[in-house]
Amino acid sequence: MHSHDDSLNRLASVLRDDLDETNRTIVARMASDVQLIPQLAAHLVAAGGKRLRPLLTLAAARLCGYRGERHIRLAACVEFIHTATLLHDDVVDDSELRRGLASANAVFGNKASVLVGDFLFARAFELMVEDGSLEVLRILCNASATIAEGEVLQLSTQNDLGTDIPRYFKVIEGKTAALFAAACEVGGVVAGCDRDICAALSAYGAALGMAFQLVDDALDYAADQNELGKTVGDDFREGKLTYPVLVAHAGGDDAERAFWRRTIETGEQTETDLATALDLIARHDAIGQTLREAGAFAHKAKAALAALPDDPLRALMMEAADYAVSRHR
Ligand code: IPE
Ligand code: IPE
Ligand code: MG
Ligand code: MG
Repeated sequence: MHSHDDSLNRLASVLRDDLDETNRTIVARMASDVQLIPQLAAHLVAAGGKRLRPLLTLAAARLCGYRGERHIRLAACVEFIHTATLLHDDVVDDSELRRGLASANAVFGNKASVLVGDFLFARAFELMVEDGSLEVLRILCNASATIAEGEVLQLSTQNDLGTDIPRYFKVIEGKTAALFAAACEVGGVVAGCDRDICAALSAYGAALGMAFQLVDDALDYAADQNELGKTVGDDFREGKLTYPVLVAHAGGDDAERAFWRRTIETGEQTETDLATALDLIARHDAIGQTLREAGAFAHKAKAALAALPDDPLRALMMEAADYAVSRHR
């Protein structure tokens, strides 16, 4: 495998006991007498997932010296919020592949996916209430609302070539970075850290989340589909104004801009258009530029950790930022 995947594996192995406990909590809380709920949820959970966000919650809490159990439930809660948004997102994006398997909407239908997503969201809120901290509740509720705002804002940028980089950043701050930030911050909160440290953890998570989504948007054009476990070219077919397209469109000549207007704005696509899009993206080094932008956010993420104790866990969290940039899935 790739060296930076190893850094995520190292983080997982250092936190092995906590992560196993988190996975048990996830499985226990998916239970329901309504058979379709555990069936659909287990389809997605059994397919895997990197558990990156719960790992960040666990790592942040341990790095801050926390010795209790509260971070387990919160890590499970964070993964539930993530899983719920994936169920909803695959319906919204009409995606057929997730974690290397047919997506839940493809197998069970849109209706079941939306409703089981709601169920998982509600279970996530129960886990927050059981934790008992109003500060934790505030942070994770706010992140949940912000994710929804990001996804809705993205609807308004779809098929709109007038979308600019600040607007794109606003979308990914909402749909992705907010949960990364909250996942890290609540780790500091349960450990009883002061405001500055919690703010540093939040800033780390936010920048890491930006890098992660920029790379996700690069991989949607550049990945090996089998390795990615999601369909390559989904963003193009959906007319999404992601960073690689913004770069290629901005640098394009009249003919190129006409191509983007037809395919992205009007949504008229033929079978060879994705290949043409990939050519134009390569011509303008748009994947390279996207990855460099991600690298700048990863740098920012690592800088935010300067406020935290110099510890092997901190080093692994810094490596997680590099992993986000160099990952292939
Ligand atoms: C997918 O997140 C959604 C994005 C923010 C791009 P992950 O890539 O972390 O998904 P899993 O949990 O590992 O499948
Ligand atoms: C990821 O959105 C963010 C959320 C799931 C809220 P995308 O649509 O870009 O991610 P993938 O490619 O489906 O994982
Ligand atoms: Mg999607
Ligand atoms: Mg989406």
